[in-house]
Order: sequence, then C-alpha cells, then structure tokens
Amino acid sequence: MTARVLKSGEIYRIEGPAKVTVRQGRIYATGVVYTEGQSFTVLKARRLAIKALADSEVEFILGPGAVLERAAPGEEVLDRWDEKTSSLDLRGVIMVVGMVDVGKSTMAALLGNKALARGLSVAIVDADVGQNDLGPPTTVSLARLTRYITHLRQLLAERSVFLQTTSLERIWQSAVEKIARAVEYAINEWGADTVIVNTDGWVLDKSAVLYKRALIDRIKPNLIVAIQVEGELAPILDGYSNVVVVPPPPHARTKSREDRKAHREMGYGRFIFPPVELVIHLNKTPLCNLLMFGGIEISDELKRMLGRALGVPILKAFQYKDRVYAIVNSDSFAVRKIGGFKVACLPADFERGLLVGLEDGEGFLVGLGVMKKIYYDKRKAIVYTSSEVEKNLNKVRCVRLGLVRLDESFNEVEKAVGLLKILEALEEDKGELGPPSNHDHSRSNSGPQDAS
Ligand SMILES: Nc1ncnc2c1ncn2[C@@H]1O[C@H](COP(=O)(O)OP(=O)(O)OP(=O)(O)O)[C@@H](O)[C@H]1O
Ligand SMILES: [Mg+2]
Repeated sequence: MTARVLKSGEIYRIEGPAKVTVRQGRIYATGVVYTEGQSFTVLKARRLAIKALADSEVEFILGPGAVLERAAPGEEVLDRWDEKTSSLDLRGVIMVVGMVDVGKSTMAALLGNKALARGLSVAIVDADVGQNDLGPPTTVSLARLTRYITHLRQLLAERSVFLQTTSLERIWQSAVEKIARAVEYAINEWGADTVIVNTDGWVLDKSAVLYKRALIDRIKPNLIVAIQVEGELAPILDGYSNVVVVPPPPHARTKSREDRKAHREMGYGRFIFPPVELVIHLNKTPLCNLLMFGGIEISDELKRMLGRALGVPILKAFQYKDRVYAIVNSDSFAVRKIGGFKVACLPADFERGLLVGLEDGEGFLVGLGVMKKIYYDKRKAIVYTSSEVEKNLNKVRCVRLGLVRLDESFNEVEKAVGLLKILEALEEDKGELGPPSNHDHSRSNSGPQDAS
C-alpha cells in the first residue's frame, strides 16, 4: 500500500490491478470526481489516467505488475477529453468511433459516467464484436449503467444479440439492423435517456466506411465522439455535423492480433462456463438459419439421382419449400440450381466446432455454445454450452449457426466462409416463415422465423 500526496493539477497514469482510495481531496478519473472516502479500481492490464483537482492524499493498493507513474505536463489527453465532453448535451444516442486501441471503451465509460452524474438513466450498447467488454465476442451486448465505472468491462451484459462472427466484412448490413434494435430496446424497454454505443475498430477500408456510415444513418446518433489519430476517420465522418473529435491517449496499451485473438478466446471460455453438454431436439428447437428440418427427408432413389446430378455422393437430404439441403461426402460447400430447386451441399461434419447462439423468441441470446454434432436421423444436435443455458433451455427458441469454428479449448480455428456463402445464397437470415411462436417447443416440421 502506498499513500501519496498529489498536488493539485498533477496527472498520474496507473496500470492495474490497483485500488485507489481518496483519503483527502478530489481526484478525477473517467469523468467522475471522487472525494474523501471514495475509491475506484483499475483492472489488470488496463491503464487509466487520473488527475488531482485539489491537493489530495490518495492511497494506492497496487497488485502484481501494477504501475503508478506521474505524467509529464501536457502529455495526457485527460483535460482535452473533459473539456470537449463537459459542455455537451448527453441525452440521446451517442456513438463512439475510432481505430483499435484508441480508448473507445474508456471514452464510452467516461460518457456514461458523466451522463449518470447528471441524473440521466444510461444504457451502454457495446457493438464491438471483436473486443466486447460487456458480453462475449461475436455479440452486440447491452447493459444499464447504475454506478460509476472505470472500465466498461465492469458491467455485465443484461442482453446480447448474436452477430455470428467477429469479422463484419460480409455481414455488416445485418449488424447494422441488430445494433439498431439493441439501441431501440434500451430506449423503449429500459427508458434510457442516454444510450452510449461503443463500436469496433474496423474503420480504415472501404467496407468499414460504408458500414460505419450505414450505422450512423440507421441509429441517427445525437452525437458522435470520434477518437482520431491522424485524419483516418474523415471518410466516415464526412458530412456529419454532430461530431466531436478528440485525440487518443498517448500511452494507450496496444494489443497485437495475437493478443486480440487470445482475448476473444478467453471471452468464449468465460461465457461458456461452467460448461455442459446438451442434447437439442431440432424438431422442437430448430436451427434458426438453416431450415433443413422444417421439411421432409428425401427418398433414397431421389438422393441417388440428385447425387448423380451434383457429382457427389449424398448421405442425407431434406427438402423444404424450394430448397434441398444435401449432406454430401465431400469437403466443399456449394449451392446449385437443379430443376427449380436451390440445392445446398453441406459437407458431412460441417457443423463440428461451429460457434452457435441459442436465441430466445425475441432474438436475444440465451447463451453461446459450440456445436459438436448433428444426428440427422434422430434430428438431434449435441451442443457444448453453459449450465446457465441448460437452466433456461425452455427459453431457447432456435439455434443460430455462427461463422467461427472453435476447437475444444475455444481456440478460433477458422472462419466458416463456406457456410457463410451457403447462408447468403439461401437467404435464410431474412425471416420468411411467419411470426415466431414464443416459447413453443412442441412444434415440429415448422421452421423458425429469423429474428433479424
Ligand atoms: N490515459 C491513458 N493512458 C494510457 N493508457 C490508457 C489511457 N486510457 C486508457 N488506456 C488504456 O489503453 C488501452 C486501450 O483503451 P480502450 O480499451 O479504451 O481502447 P479501445 O479503443 O476500446 O480498444 P479496443 O480496440 O481493444 O476495443 C486500454 O488498455 C486502456 O486501459
Ligand atoms: Mg474497446
């Protein structure tokens, strides 16, 4: 434990794990002024800048690897962040944009704290699918802010929506809709005065610009807070007037690609815990985005004919409306048009290791899981998931296949690009099957409506 006297105006950087208690005086951190007797924590491997607003006596409890250092005058951006955000009206939707590691999550926490201090009811929507602080990777997660925080990570998602992957390049249109729904939920269901939307750091290429602009046009933020290094956000921000631009902290911790991957993998593990293996009856709880069990199994003779036309042996095949789902003895995914049917060829074992989202009737995540195997004869799936999902199994309406493949230790093995192509070609994410019947597990032969 270290007790220190901080002179008014001094700025310190702390790397956690650390606990900071104000014995006397006033300390500013992440948009909040902490006074005598109040304390806050700095998480492990995170950094935070704090400032003494008066001569103060502060107690620092530093954990293993923690660092406390005084910032050189003018070095930190804390004052500029505060100046730029203090006079803003924080009601409405506020979107935070910026590259990776520029302090987006820190800014989101700061804005949330400031809004809370003004008596507003605050919700955070974390739309960073790769490095989500509230919920698991591959999700948009949302939570209400009811106390001051130093890191978004201190909040736990109350709701999550499954986005299936951490690379939005090919699915950003559906991401825009899902993020917009999360924002609307926070406003309509929670009555939030302020909704802070944290975004992912994908900003540099053309599709990223299209995505971010589409998101702005859809959620119509009252304010965009952009953390910019050197003009890189100009294509995204061009033409919008409600923008505040701030610089990133100079000594922000950066994460390598490998660090980010490892962080995500821990994220899957953290949310699929404690793990259980579940049997899902696909007649009752179907796949949300592959409607094969909504239809009938194809006869052996038809299967042989189809196999000849496709040039691959077919192990199983199901017909639903104008689609045929063929499990083939081949390694490649394909969609072919044969005699008025769209025939989707899925390699045997294509499902093994796919991340899946177990969704409720409103399209929210009950929990994540990993698909182990589908038994086509029995129309059953074995899914590795958390005991929390098992407890809430009656809420699960359908199982959405994700586009990331994991191994047994939740290491990301590959992106399921082949499956993505099939899903795009079949357009089963569009929800053509009529209204969802909430909590109905007795149905058979009827597919779900997609929640997106
Ligand atoms: N003033 C500061 N000085 C140094 N480091 C800081 C400061 N503020 C925040 N950091 C640290 O910088 C890192 C990046 O910040 P943050 O996580 O807020 O950025 P981000 O843009 O959300 O990153 P990501 O792209 O990973 O989501 C974090 O480890 C954070 O603790
Ligand atoms: Mg972040």
